[in-house]
Amino acid sequence: MEAILLVGGQGTRLRPLTVSTPKPLLPTAGVPFLAHQLARAHAEGVERIVFATSYRAEMFEAAFGARAHGVDLAYVTEDEPLGTGGAIRNAARALTCGPDDPVLILNGDVLSGHDVRAQVKLHEQADAAVTLHLTEVDDPSRFGCVPTDDQGRVTAFLEKTPNPVTNQINAGCYVFRRSAIDAIPENRVVSVERETFPSLIESGATVMGYVESGYWLDVGTPEAFVRGSRDLVLGALTSPAMPGEPGERLVLTGADVAPDATVGGGATVGAGAVVEAGATVIGSVLLEEAVVAEGAAVRDSVLGRGARVGPGAVLDGVVLGDGAVVGPGNELRHGLRVWPGIELPPTAVRFSADT
Ligand code: GTP
Repeated sequence: MEAILLVGGQGTRLRPLTVSTPKPLLPTAGVPFLAHQLARAHAEGVERIVFATSYRAEMFEAAFGARAHGVDLAYVTEDEPLGTGGAIRNAARALTCGPDDPVLILNGDVLSGHDVRAQVKLHEQADAAVTLHLTEVDDPSRFGCVPTDDQGRVTAFLEKTPNPVTNQINAGCYVFRRSAIDAIPENRVVSVERETFPSLIESGATVMGYVESGYWLDVGTPEAFVRGSRDLVLGALTSPAMPGEPGERLVLTGADVAPDATVGGGATVGAGAVVEAGATVIGSVLLEEAVVAEGAAVRDSVLGRGARVGPGAVLDGVVLGDGAVVGPGNELRHGLRVWPGIELPPTAVRFSADT
């Protein structure tokens, strides 16, 4: 089976990490995020993938070449970003399958453990135009929701609302009949969510919902990105691309962790990164050459390439851009992001028990 992988987004919610590296190439559990997706797609029977690229397009071919993780790869770049539907239509130029064949569409920022073969089987049994993977979430008010009838047919695509009619949401993995892709308008911006799916439903085409609620995560925010990496390291989702066995931590070759430092909770320490004596790193992602100095504590945070956390500093839920420096004694929390190359001086005030 062939697939199209959408990887052209700018990843604005993950800035500043995505200033230098597109979101799908950010190291996640030690390898580019897409390595997990390619390896899983291969395990699900996908033989060829067309990358729909736009933002920093050249970096994808440089990273994966013509074949990786058992899958043949092709690259199609948009001159201007065409949105999800426009990108699918544009990338279809490089497909080799026939008009009735199923084509899998993957989002380049979703980690999913669902059964793709079962999704394709439902699509073929129903002779559908499109079959969407739907997942059930606890709080559907944060998403648009996708109701289905008792035959599993999608009845509507509803925008975010405080009172959703179902807890099923679009999980971002679709099977399209090839001819349904060819019917998307060419050379203009199209959103599958806002335009293609609603108009298919309105026209009476068969759009099926494949409901499966196993492991699923959209890694679009810093918090979710950290969670995805942590879950892969801990083995909550298995990936054939993980370098090493699941465990409390992943320390890559060339990293230097002091014997009395604490590294755990699914943290990854990248090549050339350093965790000094007495430091604590929990559930975080340290990219190459990042440094956590003596006695510092880093939790649920991402440290960009060469970023440095000074002695005794505390980071919780923070993103440091490449080369950013947090001076000794600083305490940064709650989604704070430090842009690449910024240096925060040491704290002038020293806190003690009686201040
Ligand atoms: P944010 O800016 O943080 O919302 O991230 P994003 O740019 O990745 O957008 P979003 O998460 O909505 O995109 C969903 C998927 O579609 C991602 O895999 C994107 O890479 C991809 N995508 C979004 N827009 C385009 C586009 O115009 N062209 C291509 N080729 N892919 C796109």
